[in-house]
Amino acid sequence: MSLKLRIGIVGFGRMGRAIAIGLARASVDREFIAVNDKLPEAIDEARSRGFKTFTNLEDLALYSDIIVIAVKPRDVEDVAKNLREFVKGKKVVSIAALIKLNTLRELLPDADIYRAMPNIAVEVNKGFIALAPDDRKDTEVENLFKLLGEVEWVGEELLDILTFYSASTPAIVAELYDVFLLSALKAGLPYNIAKKAIAYVFQGVANLLQIKDVSTIRDSVITPKGVTIKAIEKLYTYGVKQVLLKALNDAFDEYSQLLEETKQ
Ligand SMILES: NC(=O)c1ccc[n+]([C@@H]2O[C@H](COP(=O)([O-])OP(=O)(O)OC[C@H]3O[C@@H](n4cnc5c(N)ncnc54)[C@H](OP(=O)(O)O)[C@@H]3O)[C@@H](O)[C@H]2O)c1
Repeated sequence: MSLKLRIGIVGFGRMGRAIAIGLARASVDREFIAVNDKLPEAIDEARSRGFKTFTNLEDLALYSDIIVIAVKPRDVEDVAKNLREFVKGKKVVSIAALIKLNTLRELLPDADIYRAMPNIAVEVNKGFIALAPDDRKDTEVENLFKLLGEVEWVGEELLDILTFYSASTPAIVAELYDVFLLSALKAGLPYNIAKKAIAYVFQGVANLLQIKDVSTIRDSVITPKGVTIKAIEKLYTYGVKQVLLKALNDAFDEYSQLLEETKQ
């Protein structure tokens, strides 16, 4: 899908950079990917990667058709104050966690406001990107994020949950991958082979899960008395799944408490 829109990204940190790189990988002309960051080193890096750079938000806003706010939640207000005068009628998409559509609309009353919750896999065009609000879907915003992965419009209330289960989860999955890697190294696989084999297992299973459920995949691998059932039996009898489930649930509960506190 070609995109003839100029995209302005405010904040060339981890996620802003991943979005810019993902768009370039999706064949968006780097001249059409504009970047602003308050750090001169970030601007230098963006320039060295061939992106268009602006050292002030006014110029970035005037250049861009869609503006993506990719700064930490605590910096959104400051960015919005500096954008406010220059985004009349423009589409502004905030990827910041926690900051609600209503707050963004108050901060940028003349802009057309959206929120997105991406994950870091946008860098390789395999992100999951939730967009809100789902009662005012916009084709240009959707087409922009489709270049970065799978897009789903959702009610805003789901974005907080997806912050945990989509935005944070790549870090947790990378930790799980690491367990397999360590075990494969201990068994004697050379590092490069182990790294590639396990990464492809994760990738292959992720693709299979789009057409098959967990038990179907499991049943097509297990042989009675074989090696797979021995490993799966240990996952249950050692309590690995229970512990993982408890860890995720407890972490989500702590995060929910934090959300409640930020509402008060
Ligand atoms: N990282 C993820 O996986 C992820 C996933 C989904 C959503 N998000 C959301 O994405 C946003 C960015 O997260 P991140 O992890 O990319 O953060 P980050 O790495 O800290 O990047 C933010 C960048 O914006 C810069 N910045 C701060 N204030 C600015 C301003 N007024 N004008 C221009 N640039 C400014 C920061 O500079 P300084 O470092 O000097 O402050 C930094 O370079 C957050 O709101 C987060 O909720 C992140």
